[in-house]
Amino acid sequence: MAMLDIQNITISYKNHPTVVDFSMSLEKGQIISIVGESGSGKTTVIRAAFGLLAGGGKVTKGDILFEGKSVLGFSDSEWRKIRGTDMSMIFQDSGAMMNPTKKVGSAYIEYIQTHEHISKQDAFNKGVTMLERMRLPSGDNVMRSYPFQLSGGMRQRVGIAMGMTYQPKLLFADEPTSALDVTTQAQIVRQMMELRDNYGTSLVVVTHNLGVACYMSDHIIVMKNGQIEDQGSRDYMLHESTNEYTKKLLDAVPSIGGKRYV
Ligand SMILES: Nc1ncnc2c1ncn2[C@@H]1O[C@H](COP(=O)(O)OP(=O)(O)O)[C@@H](O)[C@H]1O
Ligand SMILES: [Mg+2]
Repeated sequence: MAMLDIQNITISYKNHPTVVDFSMSLEKGQIISIVGESGSGKTTVIRAAFGLLAGGGKVTKGDILFEGKSVLGFSDSEWRKIRGTDMSMIFQDSGAMMNPTKKVGSAYIEYIQTHEHISKQDAFNKGVTMLERMRLPSGDNVMRSYPFQLSGGMRQRVGIAMGMTYQPKLLFADEPTSALDVTTQAQIVRQMMELRDNYGTSLVVVTHNLGVACYMSDHIIVMKNGQIEDQGSRDYMLHESTNEYTKKLLDAVPSIGGKRYV
């Protein structure tokens, strides 16, 4: 049984079908990327699978199964139980998601305390441990910082640490590296790949960079105008696909030191 099985879904905003006939099957420990230009429906797909569609968006056809169970009928309390623990999401710029007037620590403690009844001090220590595990040395300093005092890469590591606090089986990442400079991008990409290696986490990564997608993923889905345009393995994408749109995305990948990955 697939961990996440998206079956022929249509997603509509205000009765207007935006994503049509989208299917995807993700196994445990697998990394799948969804690639496409801005507006192609990537965020809509993963938000649907995470139960967080904005703007009155609804899955109007098909089904989304997590570990064999349809998530479409989940109540708020069922979602609260699995979000953060079974599945998590990290966002494009974790900094933008953070309250600028709140220190990282108080946001992190609050997050932990919505998931388990532990003291502030224990939550603080747990946060520090996770930050340090996610390559943020002196986690206690990070906890005492405001988001603006951290670099983009550090903020993204905070986002990853928070998302990984309860070692979810499935992690969605929405353009996790787009806000970062190229060197930091590469570090974060590798760090996300290590989540699979170290924790067995399955990943669904949204990106507009087909190079990043090919570097990271077992399977790549190319979306265009709300539909799947092309899909396959890294080798297929890089060497075999004859799809014009895929080739265009490949041409758009920035080349770094002669290497076109990441
Ligand atoms: N909150 C929303 N309300 C109404 N329509 C939306 C909303 N979010 C996205 N859409 C529609 O869905 C389309 C795809 O958006 P999105 O999934 O964010 O694309 P991507 O992540 O690929 O850039 C948009 O062009 C827009 O028409
Ligand atoms: Mg998006």
